[in-house]
This record gives sequence, C-alpha cells and structure tokens, in this order.
Amino acid sequence: MHLRGKSALVTGASSGIGRACATTLAEHGVRLVLTGRRRAALEETARSAGEGEIIEADLEDPESLSQLCDRVLSGRGALDILILNAGVGTYGPSYSTDPEFARRLLALNLLAPIEIIRRLLPIMPRGGTVVTVSSIAGMVPVPGLGVYSASKHALNAYADILRMETRRRGIRVMNVCPGPVDTEFKKNLLGRSRQPPNLGQRFSISAEDCAKAIHRGLQKNKRTVVIPRINWTAVAAQRLFPGTLHRLIARMAPSDDTI
Ligand SMILES: NC(=O)c1ccc[n+]([C@@H]2O[C@H](COP(=O)([O-])OP(=O)(O)OC[C@H]3O[C@@H](n4cnc5c(N)ncnc54)[C@H](OP(=O)(O)O)[C@@H]3O)[C@@H](O)[C@H]2O)c1
Repeated sequence: MHLRGKSALVTGASSGIGRACATTLAEHGVRLVLTGRRRAALEETARSAGEGEIIEADLEDPESLSQLCDRVLSGRGALDILILNAGVGTYGPSYSTDPEFARRLLALNLLAPIEIIRRLLPIMPRGGTVVTVSSIAGMVPVPGLGVYSASKHALNAYADILRMETRRRGIRVMNVCPGPVDTEFKKNLLGRSRQPPNLGQRFSISAEDCAKAIHRGLQKNKRTVVIPRINWTAVAAQRLFPGTLHRLIARMAPSDDTI
C-alpha cells in the first residue's frame, strides 16, 4: 500500500503503540485522526507526529463511540486506514475475574472494533486497510490473562472472517499480534493490584519497533504481523503440539493461588 496522502483513524493514540503508530504514519505522509480519552495526551501525540485531528472518545461508552464515528463520517468522504489499537488487560485467575472488569475489557477490546468497523467500513475505498491490534495472547493462551486472551482470540477470529468477507470490496485486513511491548499497558491493567509475571519479557520490544512492523505490514499488504518473529515458534507449537505447549506454559506460569 502506498501511504502518502492517505487518511487514518488511530484508536488508543494517546500513548504506547497507538502514539508510535501515529508518529510513524505521519512521517510517511498519512493524515491522522487521533482518538482516546485523554485530550492532553492526544495533543502530545499530535505534536510529536506534527499532524492530527483530535477527537476525544471513551470507547467503552456506546454513545461516545457513536459520536466519534459521526464526527469521522461528517468530516470526510473517505478513510483509507483504520488502526483499531485501543485496548486494556486485566490479570488474575480466569475463573474469578471481576465481572465489571470483564464487561469493560470486552467492550473496549472486542465490541468497540466491531462497531467502529460497522460504522466506518462504508467510507473505506478499495485498497483501504483495517488493522486490528491484537496480541500473541490471542494466539497462545496465557494463564492469568484469561479474559484478555479470550478477547484477543475473538478479535483474531473476527479479523480473519472480515478479511474473507471484504476481499471482493478490495478492503484488506491486517491482524497484528505483538508479544510484550514496553508501554504503560501493565500500569493500566483493570484492577491494578495484580501484575502479570515477566513471561517472555526478555523478547520485549519498544512501541516504536512495533509501529515500524505495522508500517512494514501495511506497505507489504500483510495479513498477519507477529512481532517479534520468534513468537511464530509459539504459534506453530500451539497449532501442532497444543498439549505439550500448554504443559510447558503452565509450568513456567505462577500457580493460580499466587496469581
Ligand atoms: N504492551 C503490550 O505488551 C502489548 C502486547 C500485545 C498487544 N498489546 C495491545 O496493544 C494495544 C495498545 O496497548 P499499549 O501497549 O499501547 O498500552 P497503553 O499505552 O496502555 O495504551 C492503551 C491505549 O488505549 C486507550 N484506551 C484505554 N481505554 C480506553 C477507552 N475506554 N476508550 C478509548 N481509549 C481507551 C488509551 O487512551 P486513553 O487512556 O487516553 O483513553 C491508550 O491510548 C492494546 O490493544 C493491547 O492489548 C499490547
């Protein structure tokens, strides 16, 4: 995909991967709409990108989400790229997840992308790309991240199906599955008292490296980006030897009474 002159909506643009994506895309001539809840942080992103219309929105709130879509629709005839990146996690045994955390997490990580796609796909031209920022936890189960992992597995399935359904309209769908990325993500977990262990942290990457991989994926019309690439081994093991992989992960992870 040739990016110069294209337009993109970036959700979760106020920090981490979303902010890094905004900056990288702006460097390549993409015009941006930046959204998140924190205006000051979005302004900081727009400053560092040198570009960007800001629309504050809480994507857990259907009304706020709808107003965001109304503003995007009224402001432009076309939108080339959707970066559906806003997301949150929660940590603890899956069987005792606080129901309010589960509801909020699924609203943000899964229902918001589904609704934004429903509202904005009609203004995406042929050659447009939907980017879903999922996680390696959407491909490989991670103890302690049950509801988060479930939301990302569901997002992956949704992205795969959307790709098939929109192929004839010329819309591409790229699903991005990062491993640990050095952002505020852990600090922002719902119910912050519990912190995940540092499983896989030695392969952690910066938000900028993640954004570069997303940019490369857009240029090469990739369907899936797994970053760092070493994580493809875990994906292959999940497909070929799930039992062995799960035993290995369970051995490395803390037992549920210490999560
Ligand atoms: N960091 C990792 O290790 C990692 C690994 C794999 C995948 N991911 C995925 O990458 C994505 C970005 O995460 P990150 O690492 O960049 O974390 P982050 O720095 O915490 O960023 C999360 C973003 O989501 C936005 N957000 C949170 N709640 C929102 C709400 N209710 N309404 C609208 N926006 C909301 C935040 O903006 P406001 O606070 O301004 O609303 C923020 O911009 C997530 O989908 C996450 O699951 C992260």
